[in-house]
Amino acid sequence: EGFLPFEHEPYFNFKDTQVAERQRAAFALVRERYLGKAFPLIVNGREVQGEGTFDVRNPADTREVVWSFQMATPAQLDEAVKAAQAAFEEWRFTEPFQRATIFKRAAELLRARRMEFNAVMTLENGKNWFEADGEVAESVDHFEVFARETMRWASGKPVYPMPDEHVTTVYEPLGVVACISPWNFPSAIPLGMALGALAAGNTVLWKPASETPLSSYLMIELLFEAGLPRGTVQFLTGTDDVLGDPLVDHPGVRMIAFTGSKEIGCRIYERAARVQPGQKWLKRVIAEMGGKDPTVVCADGDLEAAATGIVQAAFGYSGQKCSACSRVIVEESVYDDLLARVVEKARGLKVGLPEENADLGPVITQGSAERITKYVQEGQGRVRLLLGGDAPDVGERVGGYVAPTILADVPADDALFQEEIFGPVLAFTKARDWQHAIELANDSEYGLTAAFYSRDPRKIDEARKKIHVGNLYVNRKCTGALSGTHAFGGYGMSGTNAKVGGPDYLFWFLQTKTIAQRY
Ligand code: SER
Repeated sequence: EGFLPFEHEPYFNFKDTQVAERQRAAFALVRERYLGKAFPLIVNGREVQGEGTFDVRNPADTREVVWSFQMATPAQLDEAVKAAQAAFEEWRFTEPFQRATIFKRAAELLRARRMEFNAVMTLENGKNWFEADGEVAESVDHFEVFARETMRWASGKPVYPMPDEHVTTVYEPLGVVACISPWNFPSAIPLGMALGALAAGNTVLWKPASETPLSSYLMIELLFEAGLPRGTVQFLTGTDDVLGDPLVDHPGVRMIAFTGSKEIGCRIYERAARVQPGQKWLKRVIAEMGGKDPTVVCADGDLEAAATGIVQAAFGYSGQKCSACSRVIVEESVYDDLLARVVEKARGLKVGLPEENADLGPVITQGSAERITKYVQEGQGRVRLLLGGDAPDVGERVGGYVAPTILADVPADDALFQEEIFGPVLAFTKARDWQHAIELANDSEYGLTAAFYSRDPRKIDEARKKIHVGNLYVNRKCTGALSGTHAFGGYGMSGTNAKVGGPDYLFWFLQTKTIAQRY
């Protein structure tokens, strides 16, 4: 009760020149403080070196090495698992209020350093100021939300009574949770999974994406500063031959929380099902994977609002979000009108340096840019290219810059309609009518997010029932879920639907004990 009320963290207004000046100063500070440094692993509470290091490069100009991280050895993985198991024996019995207090303190610490965290993220993954700020604000929200969730799950649930027994249902943590996270949300995604684990009383093996480890390292340091016992989080960076399959297979790992590609998610799910020698449980896996997220626009919808929402959801962070809009499905009668509006708005987007807050920065690597462009090239002849498809001019810089790209008349059986491209590529498809549009929206193995634009309550009602996704947004864009409010996670091949930031998320990190007592 003491933790209510709650408000989402407000975003910075970078149009205010003083605020913009502070963000610029944060870039200078981050460069001065962190550039060229080699950061350690954190194993058993100690900062340790691995066997060699790897470089993290600025995707905006890959000639620039920003910092480097350690390559953990198999022995260090073992040591980390043992240390996390040892720490679990204490952390599991801490008072939920103590955990909640640590998270509240961490929220305060992060509020004071938001711009620094924004700058680190931009230098690691090429998010512009708005996108980085949205994510760091989400991380503050996560601390606030998980503080409250810790308390909410502390007291168990009531059961149907019987006369001669006192029966309670309580929730207990599982053990060591490996959190494996992607580069596209290097702050909010690992933090959400790790806080889920920690709030429930588990300990964590924290394995960030190799593209974006500093966003994680600084968050863990901040958690320690807030009072989190150091053994509860083991920070491991390195190569897949140590931290890929061997981490997943390790018999000391009780649960795996993963966010990333469908390919890796399926691999983890399958491997984790095998009981390894010495393993005394069936591993639990939660996996959030990809999306091919549609925006459906009905003829009676607000076309201008839809066009704005589509452009934001398709091209924000160059479409490198599992939640990004990559398909627009439109009723025939307004197809050309909506298409023209979206092309017009997207034409105004500037591709450039994320550090200068360009609308679109680079995609994560040049390899990724090549993969994205290949999709577009292979589509030539089958579909109409209305915008982009080429590499924009960014001067001397070496990076995977891809222009916002719009393709029209994309058939439902085309790879451009079915496959997650993870770049700024938007496919338009014509529907005969609004029911057909809903059918087309559901013609996907994924089911993460969708947006639906209409003013007709009957159509909206149908969409609410029939659109097969974990996150449906009516008359708004399909990105930007807020922690605690828009529980995030999908259907189908989008994953296990664990719903981070939702009312049931902690249950995934808990097991249920029934205690029946006679006297
Ligand atoms: N939570 C993010 C969004 O909603 C995606 O991971 O856009």
